[in-house]
Amino acid sequence: MTTIINLNDIERKAAEQISHNAHEYYVGGGADEITIAENKRAFQEISLLPRVLRNVSHRSLETSLLGQTFAMPIGIAPTAMQRLAHTDGELATARAAAAMNVPMILSTTSTIALEDVARVKGVSLWFQVYVYKDREATRELAQRAAQNGCKALVLTVDTPYLGKREREIRSGFHLPPNMELPNYRALGTTSVSQGKEESGLARHFTENIDPALTWKDVEWLRTVSGLPVVVKGILRSDDATMAVEHGAAGIIVSNHGGRQVDTALATIRALPAIAEAVENRLDIMLDGGVRRGTDVLKALALGAKAVFLGRPVLWGLGYDGEQGVKRVLEILRDEFDLAMALCGCRNVAEITRDLLYE
Ligand code: FNR
Ligand code: LAC
Repeated sequence: MTTIINLNDIERKAAEQISHNAHEYYVGGGADEITIAENKRAFQEISLLPRVLRNVSHRSLETSLLGQTFAMPIGIAPTAMQRLAHTDGELATARAAAAMNVPMILSTTSTIALEDVARVKGVSLWFQVYVYKDREATRELAQRAAQNGCKALVLTVDTPYLGKREREIRSGFHLPPNMELPNYRALGTTSVSQGKEESGLARHFTENIDPALTWKDVEWLRTVSGLPVVVKGILRSDDATMAVEHGAAGIIVSNHGGRQVDTALATIRALPAIAEAVENRLDIMLDGGVRRGTDVLKALALGAKAVFLGRPVLWGLGYDGEQGVKRVLEILRDEFDLAMALCGCRNVAEITRDLLYE
């Protein structure tokens, strides 16, 4: 009898299989982890008002994002160091993304080089950028992403420093010696060793990542790479408007999965004001706490074009590599498809705000 029915089941299985070091890094967040809980709770607190008798026997989940067509409005958020979950790491994730026809955002802090992930057949790869203090090395990285066929750059703006993650400090987080961060080679620093009284990763960030970023850097990245830029980590409508004004092609409404400033607002609560301010001038995406098909439907009803998954993909990897990530995507696709049918929607355009009780 199968025990894998939903994403929580996969999380439980993965937790039994991965190291304590990896688990505490993946599961954790800022300070008291209030925002992690809120991201999920806020979805649960929204009630649906299903529409009936609309012949829902044929449905399409097809979605367009940044001018590309995907199988569904669900993508893979950038998460660091995927070889901690499975030896194939980011390659397994990319193969699953290609098989399911969804976009994958590859982290700067990946444990497999961007060139190698980009070679996976059929993958639509977007590259997440952490801007190094060394701008020449950053420019090179952005250009490597473009040369290797990445379709967009995703600039993460909520991480001038790493949040205070107490689990990382307590567990003595480190990257095992048989793994490295190849995208940091240009800086001559590809390892993350255990910190004393602080997270080794927090120290790595303070040493290498530039906290002096401003809105001008959005335009700089677009100019040096020639790629569309998506700004990840927006929670305020005035910042969303700034993203439009600085030529972003999209934004991801995100609080970094509750890993940065704790008690930051749940993303689904931040979304409505942002959607109102942006008025279709760019593609709005959202991540944080998406675990059920109804969560996807609620995000679309409030103005997102797609949602992205962080931890669930890591749990899929830890559970069963490429097949595990596929399983995560299939479960959520099937739940979302059923939620659409049960709410009277035949395609994503029919997912409108009146489906929510407000
Ligand atoms: C992340 N996230 C992240 N974001 C980013 O821009 N670059 C990165 O390297 C990482 N790394 C990372 C590692 C781990 C272990 C986690 C859990 C998250 C944040 C990620 O892209 C996304 O915003 C959240 O994970 C979404 O929330 P859920 O789906 O995990 O609830
Ligand atoms: C994290 C960084 C790497 O959330 O984005 O751990």
